[in-house]
Amino acid sequence: MKIFLDTADLDEIRRAASANLIDGITTNPSLLASSAGERDPQEIFLEICETVEGPISAEVVAVDADGMVAEGRRLAKIHPNIVVKVPLTEDGLRACRELRDEGTRVNVTLCFSTTQALLAAKAGATYISPFVGRLDDVGHEGMEIVAEIRQVYDRYGLETEILAASLRHPRHVLEALLIGADCATLPPKVLYQLMKHPHTDSGLERFLADWKTLNREL
Ligand code: G3P
Repeated sequence: MKIFLDTADLDEIRRAASANLIDGITTNPSLLASSAGERDPQEIFLEICETVEGPISAEVVAVDADGMVAEGRRLAKIHPNIVVKVPLTEDGLRACRELRDEGTRVNVTLCFSTTQALLAAKAGATYISPFVGRLDDVGHEGMEIVAEIRQVYDRYGLETEILAASLRHPRHVLEALLIGADCATLPPKVLYQLMKHPHTDSGLERFLADWKTLNREL
């Protein structure tokens, strides 16, 4: 399963990329709003593309299909690794098909049901992003739709990749792995939670304390 970092924060992106922990980046307008400051979003996307080798999702903000296609074309010109993100609306699916026909990869976002995911695949989406945590927030079992989409895509031979999104904790990541999601996008906090274990910390502390009693160097 590919791991994407869900952020537009360049410090976080550099940290994860230099440790070879990630396969790509996803952003959304809210993430840009919280980290762009005075900077031009297009510049930020370019810097992200130059920092991470892999797909970089950049989202449109128009709500009509023509506007989304025009923004998508501008975004796609920034760098070959840009994946244009469109919302799962009728206009978004029209834009998805048009951009896809021009050779641009599209991530269809804000997916909350398996039938929506079917339509995105039919529109030629490269990725579908089901929002697990936001479904949990309203009392559903968000991961169930990831499992259903996996089943439907496999049964009907649909090649769109499942990108589990809105993941809030390591358990979500484990469940996405077990279901067979193609990718998962994680906020930086969840990425680092994946590598932490109290026994790793206490075990290392003990090894180092025992080694000290030898009073030698390696
Ligand atoms: O990639 C979509 C994701 O950023 C949404 O996450 O935590 O805002 O629901 P969240």
